[in-house]
Amino acid sequence: MIVCKTIEHVRRELKALKKEDKKMGLVPTMGALHQGHIELMKIAAKHSDAVVVSIFVNPTQFGPNEDFDTYPRQLQQDLDACRDQNVSIVFAPEHDEMYNNQNYFSIQIDSLNQYMCGGSRPGFFKGVCLVVNKLFNIIKPDLAVFGQKDIQQFLILKRMTKEFNHPVEMIMAPIVRANDGLALSSRNAYLSDHERMIAPGLFRSLQYLQKQIEGGVITPKLLIEHQKNELEAKGFKIDYLNVFSRATLQPVKTLTEQTKYLIAGAVWLGTTRLIDNILIEI
Ligand code: PAJ
Repeated sequence: MIVCKTIEHVRRELKALKKEDKKMGLVPTMGALHQGHIELMKIAAKHSDAVVVSIFVNPTQFGPNEDFDTYPRQLQQDLDACRDQNVSIVFAPEHDEMYNNQNYFSIQIDSLNQYMCGGSRPGFFKGVCLVVNKLFNIIKPDLAVFGQKDIQQFLILKRMTKEFNHPVEMIMAPIVRANDGLALSSRNAYLSDHERMIAPGLFRSLQYLQKQIEGGVITPKLLIEHQKNELEAKGFKIDYLNVFSRATLQPVKTLTEQTKYLIAGAVWLGTTRLIDNILIEI
């Protein structure tokens, strides 16, 4: 496995791979790798001949009061995990390799960014799109794998890839969960024992709503309000919990048949923000 810290180095190594006509799969990450990331690497390996993993805690996707400084960093451990998965190249650049002091350009995202995490984390998807654009331009992968865990991220990036004409096949990997249902996340490391114990409550609320909707409820507003109250009573603070159209990412009041939806929630447990979602079709 080759570890590259600079753009120049990774481009040189990639050139050698491409000469062998290898199909290349990219898995972008911010490190602190867990089983969710590992599954992405396995899926990338299934669809390509060589897997590239990027590890970069991207500053432009963190708000001023968010956890950029405290985000877990454990490069050596992450490199071991990549080696175990037969990753060909890890691209782990330093800040200055990716950003200059002055940046004159940015990416604007329209209505897909209005609700869910886009609504509550201003600038977040701008930063995500910026760094993924850079990664696609640097690595030029044939395909890239992202997790359903961050469904809005996947759908926005898929649209961006289409509109910016990146020749990259976008693959979505299912959510990897702990035994009690909690979606794995690098941020779960912040949870206290008590918070960790109640954390699967978010997934349970989503599952409850899924069951009701699949059972025929078409106006879930009251059920959602009830779930929000129950979660708050358990100690969660609600950022959002709602049913959204998978095509537009706008909230939906009345569900109609033959349409794809997602039930998504973001909650706070203390200072930790958790997100989760379930895809539904009725
Ligand atoms: P990060 O949070 O490290 O996640 C990297 C990838 O792993 C994302 O595609 C995410 O959806 C996926 N992932 C995380 N937890 C998962 C789980 N439990 N099951 C399945 N997949 C999971 O997402 C980012 O980094 C960044 O925004 C990035 C795309 C790298 C841009 O900086």
